[in-house]
Amino acid sequence: MSKNETKKQEILDAFQFRHATKEFDPAKKISDEDFQFILETARLSPSSVGYEPWKFLVVQNKELREKLKEMTWGAQGQLPTASHFVILLARTIKDTKYDSAYVENLMLNEKNIPEEIFAQMKVRYQSFQENDLNLLESERSMFDWASKQTYIALANMMTAAAQIGIDSCPIEGFDYDKVQAILAEEGLLEDGHLAVSVMAAFGYRIREPRPKTRKKLEDIVQWIN
Ligand SMILES: Cc1cc2nc3c(=O)[nH]c(=O)nc-3n(C[C@H](O)[C@H](O)[C@H](O)COP(=O)(O)O)c2cc1C
Repeated sequence: MSKNETKKQEILDAFQFRHATKEFDPAKKISDEDFQFILETARLSPSSVGYEPWKFLVVQNKELREKLKEMTWGAQGQLPTASHFVILLARTIKDTKYDSAYVENLMLNEKNIPEEIFAQMKVRYQSFQENDLNLLESERSMFDWASKQTYIALANMMTAAAQIGIDSCPIEGFDYDKVQAILAEEGLLEDGHLAVSVMAAFGYRIREPRPKTRKKLEDIVQWIN
């Protein structure tokens, strides 16, 4: 096999290996180095107009995990057994609106974009948010847009983990208002600049999953030539 073929096979093997792990082996912990690697793939993920509208809470605190378990029906087996448990937060309209202090700081001080270029970008982003995507129609629309970006990071983390033999499970099965309230109470939401988007558990499987099922490619792809 050529180098390219080998690489492709390795990647496909990782996609086959990844499954929504319901329960992890509590005795097996992901090394710091491996978990940093997973986090790095989140950090390097793309986001619309480069806003990076996210934050990743790594919840290792047992008491907080127990509290979360009460309102997270989708992670009953994962919360107590995962080596690492991540809550992906997304930035709210306070930070993602085109004229926010967050965007200005990100563009000028972190991406080092010259002021005159940023002024032009701002006009474009305003139109993008107001007209193209109609994001400013509600705080919810704006938040859902930021939340979508976190799912890109989520997917990259899970795929990267699978490539080094680490299992994961994405988690949407929870009461958002209740989780939000707990995190706010713990002071983890930067005064309403962040809100909960989705969760992910990482660790090592305790048992083998059922064989993977997916629709056929021809049922989900249409070529327009
Ligand atoms: C965004 C998202 C949220 C999910 N939420 C949960 C969840 O709360 N609990 C759970 O056990 N599985 C959850 N899943 C796992 C899916 O049920 C699973 O990915 C799907 O059935 C396909 O199976 P596979 O991932 O094992 O291939 C979620 C998946 C995604 C993509």
